[in-house]
Amino acid sequence: MKRTILLLLALLCACAVAAAEPASVVTTGAGVSVVPASDWAETYPDVYASYLKNQENSAVIDHVEEYPMIATVYEGMAFNAYYNSARGHYYTVEDVTSTGRPHKLANCFTCKTPDFTAAVNNEGVSAYTMPFEDMLAKVNESISCYNCHANEAGSVVVTHTYLADAMGADFDKVDKGTAACAQCHVEYYFDPETKATTLPYGSLSAMSPDSIYAYYEEMDFADYTNPRTGVRQIKVQHPEFETFMGEGSVHAGQFSCADCHMGTATNEAGETYVSHEWVSPLASEAISASCAACHKDLAGMVAGIQAHAEERTVAIGTKLETLTNRLAEAVTSGKYTDEQLDAVRALNRKGQFYWDFVFVENSEGAHNSKLTEKCLDQAEEAVDAALALL
Ligand code: HEC
Ligand code: HEC
Ligand code: HEC
Ligand code: HEC
Repeated sequence: MKRTILLLLALLCACAVAAAEPASVVTTGAGVSVVPASDWAETYPDVYASYLKNQENSAVIDHVEEYPMIATVYEGMAFNAYYNSARGHYYTVEDVTSTGRPHKLANCFTCKTPDFTAAVNNEGVSAYTMPFEDMLAKVNESISCYNCHANEAGSVVVTHTYLADAMGADFDKVDKGTAACAQCHVEYYFDPETKATTLPYGSLSAMSPDSIYAYYEEMDFADYTNPRTGVRQIKVQHPEFETFMGEGSVHAGQFSCADCHMGTATNEAGETYVSHEWVSPLASEAISASCAACHKDLAGMVAGIQAHAEERTVAIGTKLETLTNRLAEAVTSGKYTDEQLDAVRALNRKGQFYWDFVFVENSEGAHNSKLTEKCLDQAEEAVDAALALL
C-alpha cells in the first residue's frame, strides 16, 4: 500500500516536472582560450567558494587491495595493479598523472581538464594523439567552469562534443543538469584509428548494456587481452549516465544529476545559489531535505540497495577469478579443442562485461537497482555457463 502511494506520488511529480531543458553545444574551431575558474571568483563568489570545497573530497581507496579478484579479472591491462577509487573533481590532473598506469597519449585528459577540451575544440581530433607530456605542459587546472559552461558561466554548454554526437536527435531530450555530467560520467572507448574519445551508441535507446555489448561485438572491439586465457575483454568505465537513464530507473525523467548532486545553498545574506560541491545526496542536508517528503529513511534505503549489489558483485567477481584460472589451465592442458575453448572465452568476455558495468558504476546500485540486478544476473548466467563447460 505504502509503495503504491509512493509510486503515485512519484508519477504525479514526474508529470508536474517541466520538459527537459536541453544544454547548448559549443562552437568548435573557434580558437577559444579557457577562462580559468579563478577569474569567475569575483562575479560568482558563492559558486566559486563551493567549487573550491571539492578539495575536501580527497580520500582514496586502493581498489586492488579492496577487491583482490581484479588482479586476475583485469590481468592484461594496468588496472589490475593500479586502480584507485574516484575522489573530488579538484584532483583529476594530479590523479591522471600519477596513476601508475602507462599513458602515452593526450586522450587520457579527456575528462580531466578544460585545457584539453578546448584543445580538441580548437584543433579537432588530432589533439587526441598529442603526446601526454606535451599536453601536460599546457594544463592549467582540473575540471572547471569551461567544461560545463564554455566561457559563459551560468548557461550550460556541452563542450565535449562526442556526447552530442552520441545522442544524435535525442540530444534535446536530455536535461542540461544531466548532459553536463554525461560529458564524462559515461562508458567510452578510444577509436582504434583516431584515438578519439567515442561513446558506443548513437541514441538514448541504444544506451542499454545489451545494446552497448552488441555494439562492441559488432566492431569486434577489445580493450585488452588476458595473456593466460586469450579472452579479449572490454574494460567498462563509470556508466553513471547509461545506468541512471536506463530501463527501470525510478527517477530518470524526474530529476537530473544536478538535482541530486548539486543542491541549492543559501549564503549569509540569505541569497540562494547552486552549490558546485559535487557530493553524494546523503552528504548534503539541503538535498536530502528535498527528498524527505517521500523518503523517510533515504540513507537506509540506499545502504540496503548498495549492500545487496556489493555482495553479489564480490561473489560474481570471485567466480570470474575462478573462471579465469580454470580457463588458463584448460588452455595449457591440451585437453580441449580450439572451438571448445572459444565457446568458454565468449562467455567469459560477456560475463566480465556485465559484471564490470556494475562494478565500475559509482552509485553501487543506487542509480537504478533494477538494471544493476539485471546486469548481475546476466553476468552470473554467463560465468556459470562457462564454468559448466570446463
Ligand atoms: C561539472 C559541470 C559544471 C562545472 C565544472 C561548473 N558548473 Fe556551473 N552549473 C552547472 C550546472 C549543471 C548548473 C545548472 C544547475 C541547474 O540548473 O540545476 C550550473 C549553474 C551555474 C550557474 C547558475 C546558477 C543559477 O543560480 O542559476 C552559475 C552562475 C555557474 N554555474 C557558474 C559556474 C562557475 C563560475 C564555475 C567554475 C568555478 C562553474 N559554474 C562550474 C554545472 C557546472
Ligand atoms: C570533465 C569531466 C567531468 C564532468 C563534466 C563531471 N565529472 Fe564528476 N568526476 C570526473 C572525474 C574524472 C572524477 C574522478 C576524479 C578523481 O578521482 O581524480 C569525478 C568525480 C566525481 C564525484 C566524486 C566521486 C567520489 O567517489 O568521491 C562526483 C560526486 C561527481 N564526479 C559528480 C559529478 C556531477 C554531478 C557532474 C555534473 C554536474 C559531474 N560530476 C561532471 C569527471 C567529470
Ligand atoms: C535520484 C537522485 C540521483 C540522481 C538523479 C543521480 N544520482 Fe548519482 N547518486 C545518487 C545516490 C543516492 C548515490 C549513492 C551515494 C552514496 O553512496 O553516498 C549516488 C552516487 C553517485 C556517484 C558516486 C558519489 C560518491 O560520493 O561515491 C557519482 C559520481 C554519481 N552519483 C554521479 C551521477 C551522475 C553523473 C548522474 C546523472 C547521470 C547522477 N549521479 C544522478 C543519487 C542520484
Ligand atoms: C515524489 C516522491 C519522491 C521524491 C520527492 C523522491 N523520491 Fe526517490 N523514490 C521514490 C519512489 C516511489 C521510489 C521507488 C521505491 C521503491 O520501489 O521502493 C524511489 C526510489 C529512489 C531510489 C532507489 C532507486 C532504485 O533504482 O532502486 C533512490 C536512490 C532515490 N529514490 C533517491 C532520491 C533522492 C536523492 C531524492 C531527492 C533528491 C528522491 N529520491 C526524491 C519517490 C520519490
